[in-house]
Amino acid sequence: MALIIGVVSQKGGVGKSTVARLVACNYAANEWVVKIADMDLSQGTATNWNRRRLQNEITPKVAVEQFVNVSDAIKHGDHYDLIVFDGAPHSTSKTLDIAKASNLVVLPTGVSLDDLEPTIKLAHELKKNGINASKISIALSRIGNSEAELTEGMEYVRASGYHLLDGVLFEKTAVRRASDEGKCATETGFKTINEKADVLLQAIVNRVELVK
Ligand SMILES: Nc1ncnc2c1ncn2[C@@H]1O[C@H](COP(=O)(O)OP(=O)(O)OP(=O)(O)O)[C@@H](O)[C@H]1O
Ligand SMILES: [Mg+2]
Repeated sequence: MALIIGVVSQKGGVGKSTVARLVACNYAANEWVVKIADMDLSQGTATNWNRRRLQNEITPKVAVEQFVNVSDAIKHGDHYDLIVFDGAPHSTSKTLDIAKASNLVVLPTGVSLDDLEPTIKLAHELKKNGINASKISIALSRIGNSEAELTEGMEYVRASGYHLLDGVLFEKTAVRRASDEGKCATETGFKTINEKADVLLQAIVNRVELVK
């Protein structure tokens, strides 16, 4: 059975698809057979991104497929080494299904209270519904250039008791441009940006190995 990493949030636009693609591309680069299960049926962000990836002949290839149900996505789990769930914009009953199926649940969030509060609320809801708290990890995403804001955001997450992943995804035009070309956050044209995204990626890899 495939390793399963779910990327979900309560709020839209926090960086789920960006994190899901970061994870998928990098496992694929290490010869894993990877599928992104795109649960965002209305936007199909991951699906459209993969079309651009294929058109631009970017390697490694990553399979992306849209699914209505989590059970459909994992039905053929034996064919893959890793399935990454790219969650729908808002939390739905499927969010819990994704969390139940996942070895690790990643909740990307910005560091404003508008982002942090619903993130921790979702973590609590998942826990209340039987998800082991150790399986829930918070990834700081779309981070601006204020160190004070970042520090306070990190403290907020740590105080919640949930695991804060090392590394953050900084808000960078290069990340958006890479995505426009079908690339992930470690495939931008800028070494320092790629290296920073790689710290978050490694933290996800380490965490899933620890809690799976
Ligand atoms: N680190 C970043 N730097 C710059 N732009 C980013 C970054 N992360 C995400 N974005 C941009 O922010 C927008 C939302 O990101 P993304 O699609 O990853 O979020 P999402 O949580 O999947 O959104 P949705 O809830 O709509 O599915 C996109 O336009 C994306 O290109
Ligand atoms: Mg998305």
